[in-house]
Amino acid sequence: MTNLRISAICNCVDKTVVAEIGADHGYITKQLFEQKKIEFAYLTDISKKCLQKAVDNFNNNTQCMFCIGNGLQALKQENIWINNSKKQDINPQQIIIAGMGGNEIIQILSQTEAKAYSNFVLQPQRNVVELRNFLIENNFEILSDTLVKEGKIFYFVIKTKKTDKKSSLTLDELMFGKTNLAQPNKYFLEYLNFEEEKLLNILKNKKVKEIEDKLEKIKQIKLKTHKGE
Ligand SMILES: C[S@@+](CC[C@H](N)C(=O)[O-])C[C@H]1O[C@@H](n2cnc3c(N)ncnc32)[C@H](O)[C@@H]1O
Repeated sequence: MTNLRISAICNCVDKTVVAEIGADHGYITKQLFEQKKIEFAYLTDISKKCLQKAVDNFNNNTQCMFCIGNGLQALKQENIWINNSKKQDINPQQIIIAGMGGNEIIQILSQTEAKAYSNFVLQPQRNVVELRNFLIENNFEILSDTLVKEGKIFYFVIKTKKTDKKSSLTLDELMFGKTNLAQPNKYFLEYLNFEEEKLLNILKNKKVKEIEDKLEKIKQIKLKTHKGE
């Protein structure tokens, strides 16, 4: 069965040699091979147990190399690679980091090793605004930033490229993703409705009213006890 999140990530891949960082079972890379979009893949994970799932899943595929390691630090020649391939050089053209929190992705992109790579496909599970902010502050151009829904969960998928100058985003683009604003797809209105309902529910929540009442009370007491300070 097609997984819409994985398909949206694969749609952003336009290079033939990729590295999937935090690959776990490696389903994204698997789909890229099935679609014949890639010729070679480096799969890495910080967890030995997780990477083993990918190794098992690829069943002696000679077009893959696997390595345990933290983020982009795994992509080093001298590391121990689980390898059925004759290929030894580590030269991915596009890096995929998906299914992790935005802050974890920021940590990986902040590693010194990140300087060696230009093309990334990112799919944060949360903290997407922080990730967009990091990207524009660090000379990444956001090429596309789209929304997809798998099951009941919305995911943003960001295709980005390192440049030599700072780009910018409007506040709206920072909050909602530039492609979603320029070419809203069918998920975007659904997402806006979902977020609106979520916020309205929070506002309706009694606890918020209690906090507002308490804040008002503190204001009054301060005026009474510390007037003019
Ligand atoms: C939820 S899985 C995502 C798997 C796959 N990328 C996907 O999106 O379908 C997240 C994986 O990232 C790995 N991970 C978390 N932090 C990492 C890091 N700093 N470096 C490498 N892998 C990491 C975890 O061990 C886990 O296997």
